[in-house]
Amino acid sequence: MRVLVVVASKHGSTVGIGEAIADVLRSRGIEAGVFRAGAAPPPARFGAVVLGSAVYTGHWMPEATDWAELHADALRARPVWMFSSGPVGDPPLPAGDAAVDLGDLPGRLRALDHRVFPGRLERHRLGFVERALMTAVHAAEGDFRDWPAVDAWAQGIADELARVHGYAEET
Ligand SMILES: Cc1cc2nc3c(=O)[nH]c(=O)nc-3n(C[C@H](O)[C@H](O)[C@H](O)COP(=O)(O)O)c2cc1C
Repeated sequence: MRVLVVVASKHGSTVGIGEAIADVLRSRGIEAGVFRAGAAPPPARFGAVVLGSAVYTGHWMPEATDWAELHADALRARPVWMFSSGPVGDPPLPAGDAAVDLGDLPGRLRALDHRVFPGRLERHRLGFVERALMTAVHAAEGDFRDWPAVDAWAQGIADELARVHGYAEET
């Protein structure tokens, strides 16, 4: 079983979440490759897909939705998990599913789950306009990525692949 992990990220923090998910899958004997959505291969040679994006002004980055639309038929034919990374602060805001509007994409891809994870917002990584926007909305600064939550979610994916999709761990 090979799992394709596709991420869209502007400032790198969502790539880190994708890498952490792939690390968990590999620790369970599952091959996993992480690709940026703009350079990701088609799903054809992979048994399952994890697709995630950073959230900007309430939406996924276009490269993630473009990749999903382009490969929608292939994605519907295999298990797909989706995640978003965005909310910042303690507690992370916006809370829960209010962080992102994915429209009917999860339904159309028949995604098994969509999870919102907290993100990272560090002023020195932002451009001038982004910094001004963050100041205007009083956004909290820092790295709020929740590694135990990411780890647990990825373990759940490995469990599901083993249980439902007949994948046997080699450990
Ligand atoms: C201009 C701007 C707009 C943002 N809008 C949202 C938003 O609508 N919802 C949200 O949850 N996070 C929002 N964020 C926070 C980012 O999603 C968060 O910083 C994320 O971790 C960035 O991921 P990246 O480093 O992979 O690009 C915004 C950040 C910036 C700079």
